[in-house]
Amino acid sequence: MTHASMLRWLICPDDGGSLTFVNGLLMCNGCGRAFEVDDNIVRILPRQLMEPSSDSELQKLREQKTRDEQASWYDMLIGLKLVELFEMPIYRKLLGTRCYDVALEIGCGTGRVTVELVKRVKHLFALDLSYASLELCRKRLKRSFGNDGWLLLHGDANSLPIRDESCDLVFSAQAIEHVPGKHLQCEVFYEVARVLKPSSPFVFSIYHWSWLMKLFSKREGYHKGGIYFYRWNAEELKQALSKHFEVEYIRPCAGYILIVRALKRANGNKAAMGG
Ligand SMILES: C[S@@+](CC[C@H](N)C(=O)[O-])C[C@H]1O[C@@H](n2cnc3c(N)ncnc32)[C@H](O)[C@@H]1O
Ligand SMILES: [Zn+2]
Repeated sequence: MTHASMLRWLICPDDGGSLTFVNGLLMCNGCGRAFEVDDNIVRILPRQLMEPSSDSELQKLREQKTRDEQASWYDMLIGLKLVELFEMPIYRKLLGTRCYDVALEIGCGTGRVTVELVKRVKHLFALDLSYASLELCRKRLKRSFGNDGWLLLHGDANSLPIRDESCDLVFSAQAIEHVPGKHLQCEVFYEVARVLKPSSPFVFSIYHWSWLMKLFSKREGYHKGGIYFYRWNAEELKQALSKHFEVEYIRPCAGYILIVRALKRANGNKAAMGG
């Protein structure tokens, strides 16, 4: 049984309509669309991804397919294990020891960092495009934490199905760089600002255009399986965040990622809407 009380924070990803839970389905009071709730996973992808028409939508579906195929061995990647040695202590430090009431993780994958978040959060939403990854994440969370206090969302970072200003924390590890194009990645930052309460933290990592990557990789391109990426430098990232956030911490990690803690400005979204 889903942690039913958490459903009240969800909205329709298509029109932002409120949702009502009827006979095991979440029904949108705006457009009437029904979303399945399947054993702690809500299937809440935006309609555009069910009927893709643009290049970026097709690219997201390409990534979804590859992530589904890679889910069973993703956690064993040696490079990931190496970076993890450096990144985990920084995430722990930036998250601190406080207990957050409502939090969202974007691009949780198989739950590598979700297990750390769930310990610190009363109501944790973890969202990903890949259903196969979410199934593994669900297994992991159930084994260690039981069924309550967390809910997985099969959704898209560009259409977060979460009410405005409801989160005390948004977290993301190595996911936003895969949203196709810098412009759509900036739109994810806007979505994050929308769902965060004023002055609340956004802690995340994102690919870094570091000296090491300049030697061995490209700034923008595709991994095997057609997974898009863009590598940021610290200055341009600070600039992109500055509309909605006050950046408190931004540091390179392992020559691979930038790790950031930023607070949503008290008037973050309103200022952005006004230009
Ligand atoms: C490199 S994995 C990182 C997974 C996990 N955060 C970790 O650190 O192990 C990137 C994840 O982002 C997800 N992702 C990519 N684009 C997304 C989008 N538009 N919306 C939601 N999730 C997305 C992928 O499905 C994948 O699980
Ligand atoms: Zn709707």
